[in-house]
Amino acid sequence: MYIEWDEKFATGMEIVDTQHRGLIHILNGLYRSIGEGRGEAALHGIFGELQRYADYHFDTEERLLKKLAAAPHHLAEHVIRHVAYRRRIADLRARHDEGERLVPVQVLAFVSDWWLEHILDCDRIFVTLAGGIEGGKAAGAAENVP
Ligand SMILES: [Fe+2]
Repeated sequence: MYIEWDEKFATGMEIVDTQHRGLIHILNGLYRSIGEGRGEAALHGIFGELQRYADYHFDTEERLLKKLAAAPHHLAEHVIRHVAYRRRIADLRARHDEGERLVPVQVLAFVSDWWLEHILDCDRIFVTLAGGIEGGKAAGAAENVP
């Protein structure tokens, strides 16, 4: 599916939202390639983009969670999910590189579901942390426990 940016995706933390837009742009690139009948040819490049941009984004998030004193379980949850994503994409990329015929629309469904869940669920912590910054108070660990 093509993903239109929606205000419900916003966390209020500009750097996070900008990077999420970048990720959605990559996903929509795969969507367009599939629509033009060249999904399979696009997969290799897309895996590279999904690895590089995700590395950059996960590093940003992990640094922010530490800097803004998110509760330790939030950082742990993010790190675990980030590791799982990296493994999953590396595995798909390796299978593709070894000649396995992956179905592009299935790859798109998996990565789109993963990123939407990441944005709409996992990253809601940044809404709380952004609120703490706006309110002019330190986002101490005790405050951001859901
Ligand atoms: Fe994120």
